[in-house]
Amino acid sequence: MAHDKTFYITTPIYYVNGVPHVGSATTTLLCDALARFHRLKGEKTFFLTGTDEHAQKVADAAAKAGMPAQEFADKVAGRFRDCWEYLNISNDDFIRTSEPRHRAVVAEVFRRLQATGDIYRGKYEGWYSVADETFFRESEVKDGKAIESGAAVEWVSEDNYYFKLSAYGDRLLAHIQSHPEFLQPETRRNEVLAFIKGGLRDIVVSRRNSGWGICVPGDESQVVYVWFDALINYLTATGWPGNAAWDSRWPADLHLVGKEIYTRFHATLWPAMLMGLGLPLPGTVLGHGWWLVDGEKGAKSKGNIPTPQEVVAELVELSGASPEIAKDALRYYLLRDISFTGDAEYSQSHLISRYNADLCNKLGNLLNRTLKMLAQYAGAVVPEGGAERTADGTLASLSREIVQDVERCMLAYDPGAALSVIWKLVEAGNGDIDTTAPWKRHKAGDTRGVADALYAALEAVRIISVLLTPLLPHVASVMREQLGLGEMPLGDWAHETHWGGLPGGRKTAEAQPIFPRIDTKNTATKQKELTPVTENMPPPPPILEVAEAPAAPAYITIDDFAKIQLKIGEIKTAERVEGATKLLKLTVDIGEGSPRQILAGIAESYLPESLPGKKIVVVANLAPRKMRGLESQGMLMAATDAEGHAILLHPADPDAVPPGAQVR
Ligand code: MSP
Repeated sequence: MAHDKTFYITTPIYYVNGVPHVGSATTTLLCDALARFHRLKGEKTFFLTGTDEHAQKVADAAAKAGMPAQEFADKVAGRFRDCWEYLNISNDDFIRTSEPRHRAVVAEVFRRLQATGDIYRGKYEGWYSVADETFFRESEVKDGKAIESGAAVEWVSEDNYYFKLSAYGDRLLAHIQSHPEFLQPETRRNEVLAFIKGGLRDIVVSRRNSGWGICVPGDESQVVYVWFDALINYLTATGWPGNAAWDSRWPADLHLVGKEIYTRFHATLWPAMLMGLGLPLPGTVLGHGWWLVDGEKGAKSKGNIPTPQEVVAELVELSGASPEIAKDALRYYLLRDISFTGDAEYSQSHLISRYNADLCNKLGNLLNRTLKMLAQYAGAVVPEGGAERTADGTLASLSREIVQDVERCMLAYDPGAALSVIWKLVEAGNGDIDTTAPWKRHKAGDTRGVADALYAALEAVRIISVLLTPLLPHVASVMREQLGLGEMPLGDWAHETHWGGLPGGRKTAEAQPIFPRIDTKNTATKQKELTPVTENMPPPPPILEVAEAPAAPAYITIDDFAKIQLKIGEIKTAERVEGATKLLKLTVDIGEGSPRQILAGIAESYLPESLPGKKIVVVANLAPRKMRGLESQGMLMAATDAEGHAILLHPADPDAVPPGAQVR
């Protein structure tokens, strides 16, 4: 193997029975960020995505549309290609399982495994789910449905070919145990270990030929089972076996997939097939959780999840941002909030909170105020002196740590964690400007102090633009343009992430806000107008009816006031309420032994994770009331800002007052 190993990363190949949506876009965007990162580090990279076409459900969808299956597959595969192009996905190849290059490799794999005796002929009688394209055992089926997915199963009785999966259990276990990086995250590895230890049975790898699929070599009565066909795509794209350079790509470094196709297919069947072929196994198989919509898996078949194009159009409409910025805002939300260990609720209001809080208020503000001050106090020219000019140096040392952390996260295949680390630098940049206060230094005639403070802020912005290049490529390039810099050259990651690299004497461009704020007061109505985005999409959840207080009289007596029991509370937990855009469910300790459950209409102002530990003021004797079927046992006190957001009231010295302290 004389070739340099390429970093090889894959998405699942998507079924062409429906169009791409924000769920499939998430896996593709995660891979895109990782591929871009490896390219920036100067590594040869090969990023593969594509379409899985020989499923029975594709044939069924084509029949329903009154089209020949191939024509239907061509059309929908085009939708995937277009969507990835629209989202600026940097895939190096797009494979379709109906292509001749793939058909030939599937036939070759089949032949080789028949020759070794791993594939043999048998008769299958049992359950099959078309929705899952999966065979199920009796114990996996209840009341005509697959227990795992809830999809309907049908009884099939066919003469087929089998793959001797049962022969690979011990070898799979040994490989998993000796390669801790192979199956991730750990919870899924444990699930796979349990699945294999439960006993592997031979698996059917062909089905009766009903005119759609890849024929079993030498037996036209059968087509290759869609999963056996599909997994091989990862090998086809390397050029195996004919292309001499195939092993510069193989084994894949990372197969990234959703959790429903992890255990059975990517973590068990695929490695066993590779073992049968005598080929090395992929470096890592990583499974992420689902986007849920109102608590249910977002799926094309349910029509409950929007396409990326629909979401981008909404964002553009609501914010006035450019479509390219809106695409990166969607990227930000999907990358930042998808979960590897659990599931995450997808909603427009979460997307808008992320947009306003993180992109507009934090990142946009940092870029904008830095460039504006530079224009105002230093003629829009970057101060000379480089790393020497770093005010008190805290931003410089933090930046060094953050660069390392971001690299660690990206190497651990976690773009969301990388983004949250980058935002620490964004926040520190804003905090640093607040403390170094260049406007005060300017007023005091401290030209050197102004230059030091502004250089530090500019350099933080530049480093942030470098770190964001693989994650939010358009945002990063607009930031660099405003800083007066060109595109990040590939391979320059190590050099560009060094603090002090911003050359002095260069003029910056005019500060242009890139994330116009979304007025959340208007989103509810606008959202309604924009709703018919997907046929069959359910209407958006109604905006929470936070109980309106009756109009207050001019005066109340002290006795009236005495009726209200106000107490200090400490927030213990906070989470969103399914289907409610404004509501958070909190548990609050008010010194009663066990905390109270309180529902508060503050979801558009606060991220749930920012709340635990905060001391607040609670109306403790408000009669319990139900919202969205949940009981609220009190009320938090909050002011309303100019835009109608709730701003919580906190004691000035939180450590001095324990939960339960009286407020008068
Ligand atoms: N064709 C198979 C995969 C074969 S790979 C050799 C398949 N296709 S699919 O079109 O159903 O796409 C499934 C993948 O899309 C998931 O594994 C996941 O990566 C992504 N997602 C689909 N719905 C999703 C959510 N609701 N949430 C997150 N990801 C989602 O299975």
